[in-house]
Amino acid sequence: MKVDVLLGLQWGDEGKGKIVDVLTKKYDVIARFQGGPNAGHTIEFDNKKFVLHTIPSGIFNEGTVNVVGNGVIIDPYIFKEELEVLLESGLNVKRNLYISKKAHVILPSHRLLDAVYERAKGDQKIGSTLKGIGPTYTDKISRNGIRVGDLTLPGFKQKYEEAKKRHFLLASVYQVDIKSITIEGQSFEAYEKAWFESLETLLSLNLVNSEYFLNKQLDQGKKILAEGAQGTLLDIDFGSYPYVTSSNTITAGVSNGLGIAPSKIGKVFGIFKAYCTRVGSGPFPTELFDETGEKLRKVGREFGATTGRPRRCGWLDMVALKYAIMINGVTDLMMMKADVLNEFEEIEVAVKYKVDGKITDEMPYDMTGVDIEPVYEKIKGWNRSLDEVKSFEEMPEELKQYVRYIEENTGVPVTLVSIGPDRSQTLIKE
Ligand code: GDP
Ligand code: IMO
Ligand code: MG
Repeated sequence: MKVDVLLGLQWGDEGKGKIVDVLTKKYDVIARFQGGPNAGHTIEFDNKKFVLHTIPSGIFNEGTVNVVGNGVIIDPYIFKEELEVLLESGLNVKRNLYISKKAHVILPSHRLLDAVYERAKGDQKIGSTLKGIGPTYTDKISRNGIRVGDLTLPGFKQKYEEAKKRHFLLASVYQVDIKSITIEGQSFEAYEKAWFESLETLLSLNLVNSEYFLNKQLDQGKKILAEGAQGTLLDIDFGSYPYVTSSNTITAGVSNGLGIAPSKIGKVFGIFKAYCTRVGSGPFPTELFDETGEKLRKVGREFGATTGRPRRCGWLDMVALKYAIMINGVTDLMMMKADVLNEFEEIEVAVKYKVDGKITDEMPYDMTGVDIEPVYEKIKGWNRSLDEVKSFEEMPEELKQYVRYIEENTGVPVTLVSIGPDRSQTLIKE
């Protein structure tokens, strides 16, 4: 048995949550392998809408086991809030949820530091979700982190106090008014109190050595799907550094983040929007600043699931898509939000870049210091509603052509097309 992977090929928010939920019935286990509550994965069904931040998107299927892997970082406060929403909806969440003891914990002072770093950067800020992602992964790599398994050990309180002291000392180096920083709308002290209270909820769950847990499931012939967060162009190594997140969002991250050997990776489902969006700062070659960009944002309801910020919008970027396919070894493409392009006579796709006057089909090393002008090709739009479309065969000819165009350019089959946010609005190639 191998582990299949579903991950984003753009700058996040491709619709990973929706598709993991759709695919869940084919899997026994869904496992998150990286990122933290910077993620916001939306799932809609039966006129209900949920946004998950840490809990895998398989949670709505009764029999599926959900695992938060060692590569994920957890904020007990956000986690508790997320869990409560699910419990209130009547789901028996705790039974099917397993947390890696090796997952690192986001402390209140990590969130404080995140805010301090962003403020200190001024114009150069990353546009972080301010969930403490950068500082928590920094502590993990510098061997100063606190893991879920540490929360029950006698030395925890002392470790906590030492980390907090270190973080405040670090924060004091910057010309930032620390007192003015709030976390979840609360003062540091109030938030810290609530954070400690939320530990009990986290500790009431099934805490496991998830690498053994998952490999045993594989040995028993169980099917596992790894759920990515963020997207390839936000990867710490291959994204548009420094405008990235702090984890490996790519297929390789599954091995580190779950303890799954590379030889045990099966299919890689690469998910992308029929156009592009980005939230936060950083390069975005095909970004549109005109009414077309505005139309994509309005029709696509492009506002962040975690922060509510408007997402920047633009045409599909084939240079970036091909790069992401290469890095991840994508076996199947899944195209999301096709319906957002319903009212366009013409669709554009960037097939090459003109970088400082020279044509290239590669992502430049320095995306911010150079002038990137996308070279577009025009494709005829379908210019009609997809509401009645129930299968690949029923797709309008122009949409079929758009799909074929992407397949020919990338050499990878498109096996799923999404035509609306609801679970049911999903076309799967037979
Ligand atoms: P994720 O982070 O990759 O899980 O994606 P998000 O949930 O942050 O953002 C995707 C947004 O698009 C959510 O609001 C979804 O409900 C919505 N969505 C997903 N698929 C489709 C689709 O095919 N059409 C439309 N119109 N919306 C979609
Ligand atoms: P999902 O899983 C979109 C972006 C932030 C910022 C940068 C760094 O929902 O697709 P961080 O909080 O990690 O320090 O922010 O990365 N970002 C996301 N953008 N979707 C996400 O997750 C994101 N997670 C982080 O906006 O630009
Ligand atoms: Mg999202």
